[in-house]
Amino acid sequence: MQAVDAFLQQHSERFLQELKEFLRIPSVSAVTAHQKDVRRAADWVRAQLESAGVRAELVETAGHPIVYGEWLQAPGAPTVLVYGHYDVQPPDPLNEWTTPPFEPDIRDGKIYARGATDDKGQMLTHVKSVEAWLKSGTPLPVNVKFVIEGEEEVGSDNLDRFLAARKEQLKCDVAVVSDTSQYAPGIPAITYGLRGIVACEVTLHGPRQDLHSGIFGGSIANPCTVLAGLIAQLHDEHGRVQVPGFYDDVIELLPEERKQFAALPFDEAEFLQGLGAPAPFGEAGYSTLERRWTRPTCDVNGLSGGYQGEGPKTIVPARASAKITCRLVPAQKNETIIAALEQFLRERCPAAVRFEFKTYHGCPATVCDIHSPYMTAARAAVRAGFGAEPVLIREGGSIPVVGTFKELLGVDTLLLGWGQNTDNLHSPNEHFSVEAFQSGIRASAALWAELAKRA
Ligand code: BES
Ligand code: MN
Repeated sequence: MQAVDAFLQQHSERFLQELKEFLRIPSVSAVTAHQKDVRRAADWVRAQLESAGVRAELVETAGHPIVYGEWLQAPGAPTVLVYGHYDVQPPDPLNEWTTPPFEPDIRDGKIYARGATDDKGQMLTHVKSVEAWLKSGTPLPVNVKFVIEGEEEVGSDNLDRFLAARKEQLKCDVAVVSDTSQYAPGIPAITYGLRGIVACEVTLHGPRQDLHSGIFGGSIANPCTVLAGLIAQLHDEHGRVQVPGFYDDVIELLPEERKQFAALPFDEAEFLQGLGAPAPFGEAGYSTLERRWTRPTCDVNGLSGGYQGEGPKTIVPARASAKITCRLVPAQKNETIIAALEQFLRERCPAAVRFEFKTYHGCPATVCDIHSPYMTAARAAVRAGFGAEPVLIREGGSIPVVGTFKELLGVDTLLLGWGQNTDNLHSPNEHFSVEAFQSGIRASAALWAELAKRA
């Protein structure tokens, strides 16, 4: 391990330069105009793996390619599957960035760029730690497989087919993903649970086209008004979802978990100030952390309909739509929830508009065993990399592949987040701490040894 540490120190500046190079590629998976850039990023990852000493290939899919790599020269040692994504969210709104999203800039010890934390910087830590083992002449004590995809930010449509087709090749003892967060600065964390998600879009159709509201207003239904009425019925005044059966399958928090979360340092005023929100809001009877990590939600992500341009315009719009997602918690079933939501809205929708409902991607919630030897190894590795004991947390975001790994490969995923949830992921001025990048590489390097020790 000493030679590995020395290698990491010697090459830390180069690693940072390489991260910058990676961040300069605008691999926005959602935007067709960036298709070539997305492929360029895939190729960049493949080349990085190859130069680290890991055999790697680009696997074509119906969408963006998947990078697959493996190094299997530790017979009898455990096999780890590393998953990450090289695609990024669109950088919009562009005018809110202090420096351009694809021109990485280091300020106050943080590297600013789209994808810095989600997930280029975090993912790269594992490639670099493997490079350090393989290049420093110390035999890597585990076998590693890498699946780095390019469609995570658009729902991973083609990933499951790839995973199912290569089920045998992907056999492993445990998976590792760095695409979550530390608990707070100076408090590293291991995430043992994530929420799931269902997503849909509701469109209400009124007249064939927008109409003069003076001539026709009042004689037919206005889709915007009807939609607002439907959305208003989704929650009661305390934020409790009103869809029948919504909470039926929810597993309530264990008393130990509640105690554990309550023991985490949390300052509500600081939390609100950080978000710029005037007051907390949510289901009664649950703390803010509990609401964010362990309670299901129903959120309107976007509303559209009618005239959105400058100045007034007097119309009855032809249609209105809402994009809605529900975050799910353990034991809630995606099909049940989406069906209940559709029925709730459809039943309440007056015949004066036509109701259309479209379902998108989704995944169930996951929790993994906190007493496994893998977890013990991960705790030791995080301690080694960050110089602090990690806390065990759950988080509210979703990583669909975690459920697939459990179902298809029968393995738990170690969610080792090196970022902060204030890193502005999916927002303007996304960033990643340079120190966290380096500690993450050290923790990852230590993880391989810790896992081998406990095999
Ligand atoms: N890295 C996030 C997931 C995440 C964020 C987990 C914060 C825990 C804390 C991931 O890239 C992401 O954004 N996932 C999407 C999944 C969805 C598109 C299916 C999400 O959670 O919205
Ligand atoms: Mn993301």
